Amino acid sequence: MTEKYALFGNPVSHSRSPYIHTCFAGQFNQIIDYQAICINHPDEFTAKVQAFIQNGGKGANVTVPYKELAISVCDELSVAAELAGAVNTLIVTPQGKIKGDNSDGLGLVNDLQVITTLTNKRILLIGAGGAARGCILPLLQAGIASLSLSNRTASKAQQLVSLFAPHVPAGVEFKCDELANLSNDYDIIINSTSASLTGELPAIPEHTVTDCICYDMMYGKGNTVFNQWALAAGARQVYDGLGMLVGQAAVSFGWWRNQQPITKPVLAALRQQLEQA
Ligand code: ATR
Repeated sequence: MTEKYALFGNPVSHSRSPYIHTCFAGQFNQIIDYQAICINHPDEFTAKVQAFIQNGGKGANVTVPYKELAISVCDELSVAAELAGAVNTLIVTPQGKIKGDNSDGLGLVNDLQVITTLTNKRILLIGAGGAARGCILPLLQAGIASLSLSNRTASKAQQLVSLFAPHVPAGVEFKCDELANLSNDYDIIINSTSASLTGELPAIPEHTVTDCICYDMMYGKGNTVFNQWALAAGARQVYDGLGMLVGQAAVSFGWWRNQQPITKPVLAALRQQLEQA
């Protein structure tokens, strides 16, 4: 029987996840049924997820705005999901229990590792919202030299540093840096802010990005506003979050099906679709 998976969120009509997961299954000559399910109201979330599982659903992704709420539907949580404060992957165990995990951060780390080695790299993460929080643990565990958090509201970055402090591997520096006074001491700069949604830029000095690799978690047709600015300010290379989208999907797929799909051809196809849209 064709195994069933789903994405829960709102909106989901433009989601690329059904396409991505169908492509991944195709790499193993398999067919899966992956549906995008829109949940109009938070009150419907639990009932819809439970109905999906009762109807044979093997696993699901959760997207905006329900990643935090998804914690409440889980019987158990991974450490990554607990620290992220958000679940983007539901795994149905053989006993019928729901395990909540979060593949966003690993998706980002895997995509970054395609771009460059992370060993001994100094990383700056701009933003301290849900997107940043979901990535901190996998970044800390990726063999880096340092991770600096910087946010418009500095206290939020400080809170995240306190939250993750007990999980910092030996030898890794983990700190807050003030947004307006950032130096040029980083190898990789990740923009996790939602500023791009409104065409805005985080207020960081131009010299901060000079000769760096910049990664904007947002994506769209052409370069994002942040990446355009970074290139003009002398960034060495810029990347957007399309690779993270495919990366997190690959991690979820692996958890569900014990098979590791190849992201590169799927990312190339999605990029082509995006540029032609
Ligand atoms: P998400 O889940 O996408 O991370 P969020 O939790 O609302 O969304 O967090 C948005 C992040 O983008 C925050 O770090 C926010 O900064 P503040 O904490 O100061 O609000 C950041 N952000 C949004 N617009 C910004 C802007 N114009 N300049 C700088 N940072 C911005």
